[in-house]
Amino acid sequence: MTYEAEIVTQKKLATDCYRLEFYAPEIALSAQPGQFLMVKTSLTLDPLLRRPLSIQSVDHARGLVKVVYRVVGKGTALLAAKKLGRRLNVLGPLGRGFTMLTNGKFAVVAGGLGMAPLYFLVQRLKALGNEVTVFYGAQNRYQLVLVEQLAGLRVNYVTATDNGSSGFKGTVVDLLREKGLPPVDIVYAAGPPPMLRALGELLREVGMPRTEVSLEERMGCGIGACQGCAVKVHGTEGPVYKRVCADGPVFSAEEVIWE
Ligand SMILES: Cc1cc2nc3c(=O)[nH]c(=O)nc-3n(C[C@H](O)[C@H](O)[C@H](O)COP(=O)(O)OP(=O)(O)OC[C@H]3O[C@@H](n4cnc5c(N)ncnc54)[C@H](O)[C@@H]3O)c2cc1C
Ligand code: FES
Repeated sequence: MTYEAEIVTQKKLATDCYRLEFYAPEIALSAQPGQFLMVKTSLTLDPLLRRPLSIQSVDHARGLVKVVYRVVGKGTALLAAKKLGRRLNVLGPLGRGFTMLTNGKFAVVAGGLGMAPLYFLVQRLKALGNEVTVFYGAQNRYQLVLVEQLAGLRVNYVTATDNGSSGFKGTVVDLLREKGLPPVDIVYAAGPPPMLRALGELLREVGMPRTEVSLEERMGCGIGACQGCAVKVHGTEGPVYKRVCADGPVFSAEEVIWE
C-alpha cells in the first residue's frame, strides 16, 4: 500500500544523519520489526526510484512512524531537505522481519545505522518480556545516534567505537570476541556487510547460535518484481539467489554467502 504521509518531525541527529517522523496510522499498526519502507524522495522523476529505509519505531496510539537515515546521495539529500507539514509518498511496510519470541534471551548486534531496524526489534522484544543485551558499535560516539533512545528502553547495552570515544575501543565484533557472547536463543544483527561477515565468522567459532541478519542491497521495485536486489544464498543443491526485498531483508546468517 502507498500512503501520502504528513511529515511531523525532522531532526538532525549527527553529521549527515536525520530522524524523520510521519503520520501513517496504517503502517504504525501493521509494521513488524525488520520491515522497511520504499520512500519517494522527489516529486519529479529524478531520482526515479524509491529509496528503501528501515522502520526505526512506531507509535500506535498517535499513528506515527520513524525512520533514521544517513545522507549518502541525491535521494537522501532530498529527504533531508523536506519540511514539516509536507507529504511523503511511502510504500510499505515491506519485507520479512525478524522472528519474534517470548520469554527468551537475545543478543542484538548493531553496526552504525544498522541500529535503526534493531531498535524497533529491541522495543518489541522488551514489550514481550524478553531479556535483551545490545552490542552497539560505530566509528565514534557521535555516530551512536540511537543510544539515548536505547537507554530509555531500560535495556542492557554496551557500546564500541573505532576510536574509543565511547565504550570499548574497536569494532563491535572485537568487543564480542573479547567479552564473549552471553548464552542466548537468537542473535540478531544489522550493519555494514564487513561487520556482518566478521560476526558470522566469530559466531561459527563459538558454535553458531541461531542468528538472523538484516541485509541491505540497492533496490529497484522493493516488492519482488525486478530481481534488482538479489543476494546469493546456500540452497539445498548449491548456491541460489534470493531477493532481499521479498525474501528478506532478514535472513538466517548461515544461509548467506558473503562475497
Ligand atoms: C532494506 C533496506 C533498509 C535500509 N534502511 C536504511 C536505514 O534505515 N537508514 C539508512 O540511512 N539507509 C538505509 N538503507 C540504505 C538506503 O536505502 C540508501 O542509503 C539510500 O537508498 C541511498 O539513496 P541516495 O539516493 O541518497 O543515494 P544514491 O545516490 O542512490 O547512492 C549513494 C551511494 O550510496 C550507495 N548505496 C545506495 N544504496 C545502497 C544500499 N542499499 N546498500 C549499500 N550502498 C548503497 C551507492 O552505491 C552510492 O555509493 C537501507 C537499505 C535497504 C535495502
Ligand atoms: S528490488 Fe525489485 S525484486 Fe527486490
